[in-house]
Amino acid sequence: MPQCGDNVGDMTRAKAFLSRPLPDTVETAIAEHFDVVRASGDKILSAAELREGARGCRVVFVSAMQPFGKDVIAALQPELKAIGTVSVGFNHIDLDACREHGVSVFYSPGVLSEACADLGLLLLLGAARRGHEAEKLLRSGTWTGYSNVQLLGISLTGRRAGILGMGRIGQAVAARLRGFGVEIHYHNRRQLSEAEELGATYHATGDELAKVSDFLILCAPGTPELHRFVNRERIALLPENPVVVNLSRGDTVDDDALIEALKSGRVFAAGLDVYANEPKLDPRYVDLENTFLTPHIASATTDTRHAMGMLVLNGILAHDAGETPDNQLC
Ligand code: DGY
Repeated sequence: MPQCGDNVGDMTRAKAFLSRPLPDTVETAIAEHFDVVRASGDKILSAAELREGARGCRVVFVSAMQPFGKDVIAALQPELKAIGTVSVGFNHIDLDACREHGVSVFYSPGVLSEACADLGLLLLLGAARRGHEAEKLLRSGTWTGYSNVQLLGISLTGRRAGILGMGRIGQAVAARLRGFGVEIHYHNRRQLSEAEELGATYHATGDELAKVSDFLILCAPGTPELHRFVNRERIALLPENPVVVNLSRGDTVDDDALIEALKSGRVFAAGLDVYANEPKLDPRYVDLENTFLTPHIASATTDTRHAMGMLVLNGILAHDAGETPDNQLC
């Protein structure tokens, strides 16, 4: 049986399946090395669509949120040798099944951290400064002019951010927040070195972090341990008028609990980019005035998506050349 980590083999004109469109620059580069087979449309594929589309392909490119389960991985044998996910998250791929069938997996960490952190700041500012209500007021044509008491939000300076997940994205968010005069607190699987912490305060538990989080910012990868990290109990621990930002995965939040807290005012506002059951987010978020919502676009800049796609492709090619690239998961 092949082992995960075996070379992909002779990739000359092997077939590569693209489950979704990628930037033209990336598709052109892929086509230099593979015969490209494309899924029609731009959506998450069902298991049957993925199995049928990728049949006979040695490489499959997918994106965040595309489930790639053990049945499909098994069904694509013996041809499938590599999966490249153009995402930093990889919770959608069954890595154990990949190991079992000798399928190598590549992803795109690092190159998207700055873009994701930029969006984190947009979400925080949009939520804290009531961006949705402000824009709605203007666009509705009902603005009557400047007022001393209209749309008062929350200042960033002097407040405390509690960052859950202090990896590359969390650290990039922290770097930006320091510029706003925000005090940085974090919880992470491991405490960072002093040089990485840059003065941030480590909290050994999520509960301890919650207690100091004027702004609770979720940057951790989606893992079963963090399922519903933001729940009623943790919300009760937050200081007054907190803002919750989610750059992680939708199921890191208990939607019922957060929506209840947004309605009652226990939570001042939320800035969300990710949702449980995407794209069918809970419609109550849309009805609320104190939410600032974006459709999973944290890494969506031209430069970043190019870099993500090229990192994945280059990882596959390097592996084929006998190297072990840094972005190989198994
Ligand atoms: C990823 O790459 O996993 C992100 O969710 C994209 O924003």
